[in-house]
Amino acid sequence: MTSDRFSAGGGRRFPILSPLPILLLSLSPFLAIITILSFHRSGVNPLISLPGHFKSLPSLSFLGLRLQSDLPIPPETKRRRRMGRSSIAICLVGGARRFEITGPSIVKNLLLEYPNADLFLHSPLDKDAFKFLLLKSAPRIAGVRIFDPSLIPATESQIRVLSPRGSPNGIQGLLQYFNLVEGCLSLISAYESRHNFTYDWIVRTRVDGYWAGPLDPFAFRRAVYVVPPGSRFGGLNDRFGVGDRASSAAALSRLSLIPRLDAAGYKNLNSESAFKAQLTISKVRAQEMPQPFCVVSDRRYGFPPGRRGVPVASMETSAPLNGAKCRPCAPTFGSECLKLDGGWSSPEWTEGGIEICNATGAWEEGWESVFDGMAGDVAAIGRRQVMAAEQIGCEEDFERLRRRTEIWDAPPATEVCRLGLSESGSTSKLGL
Ligand SMILES: *[C@@H]1O[C@H](CO)[C@@H](O)[C@H](O)[C@H]1NC(C)=O
Ligand SMILES: *[C@@H]1O[C@H](CO)[C@@H](O)[C@H](O)[C@H]1NC(C)=O
Repeated sequence: MTSDRFSAGGGRRFPILSPLPILLLSLSPFLAIITILSFHRSGVNPLISLPGHFKSLPSLSFLGLRLQSDLPIPPETKRRRRMGRSSIAICLVGGARRFEITGPSIVKNLLLEYPNADLFLHSPLDKDAFKFLLLKSAPRIAGVRIFDPSLIPATESQIRVLSPRGSPNGIQGLLQYFNLVEGCLSLISAYESRHNFTYDWIVRTRVDGYWAGPLDPFAFRRAVYVVPPGSRFGGLNDRFGVGDRASSAAALSRLSLIPRLDAAGYKNLNSESAFKAQLTISKVRAQEMPQPFCVVSDRRYGFPPGRRGVPVASMETSAPLNGAKCRPCAPTFGSECLKLDGGWSSPEWTEGGIEICNATGAWEEGWESVFDGMAGDVAAIGRRQVMAAEQIGCEEDFERLRRRTEIWDAPPATEVCRLGLSESGSTSKLGL
């Protein structure tokens, strides 16, 4: 996105051989340094934004003879620029369990990809919450709520509408999850009313999502709600979604729309079918679009997965995983060995290259190096930072995060850090 700014200014407006491009040319190393410095100050990790800048520089360096003025702008670039001018909220929900490996991928593929977007985090307080210190490399962070979870008593309409089947913690599990999602919308609304505006777009994603590639700018579509294919479980995949403000309000109001589902006569819904029903009664159409992320899971599943089993993909899989379960592993089988139907639990793995892990046990010995090798240096540094975190540094990072976050509702840094780092020493507990 920033590289566009360079080529737009340097390449398009000035006539060939005018003194201006030459001046720009001779200044370009300084411009690059100034840009890097300004990024550094604004908290963007310069290591990540650097390559984009340098890629754009050679186009200026043909001594003014051919300044790319005739090249058509690819639709993707145009779209990216348009998204760069709109207001976007990115809502991140869920527990931080494996944020040491999902966090850097979210920062890179969502937050730095859309650096104009505001981040909102809604998460339960637990021993992993300190891992959110990785958000210090987020370009913008507007709202954080880390809360002590408590039982949510089910109302009569919730009991009529929802089914405990297929949910590990029954109806209570659904209510906790719905509360996480809707609470993120409340954070966003609070921020909007403070500033008297509404976001054009809301991206809703999960703390435990590992993003293997950037969010496609074509996922932003007016008047529909975009979700990944697969994992439908009789409704719609509810592990990720993008929509305009109105569609997102319908998609994220997971608790407050239940009385209307009740009034409409819906019964026995699981998370996915309730999600589909709430879009239906709100007259919002859903559209499926593949997304390059998976949900990192520590849970164990039978292997090979049976007809109704849950396949766990290798995080190294190149095809979009659309929110399927994954873990870092050395793959055993290629996709040709697995014929999964589109039923209860299998994601939409229509493209080749799916690698399935034997997830009957704990994560395999040495997964850290599998992950570091696959995710690249920045991610590996992030992972090691979390694993080596100590109380004082953690508190400092959290305090810095708090100072740059307008809406902050979380326990003191001392407590968040102590929960994760104190007893018996963090390092052995986290498997260093
Ligand atoms: C908020 O915005 C609306 C419309 O843009 C305007 O009419 C109103 O006066 C604004 N309120 C405040 C408090 O700025
Ligand atoms: C899966 O891993 C377990 C050990 O965790 C092993 O006992 C089992 O044989 C493996 N299954 C297959 C099909 O390789």
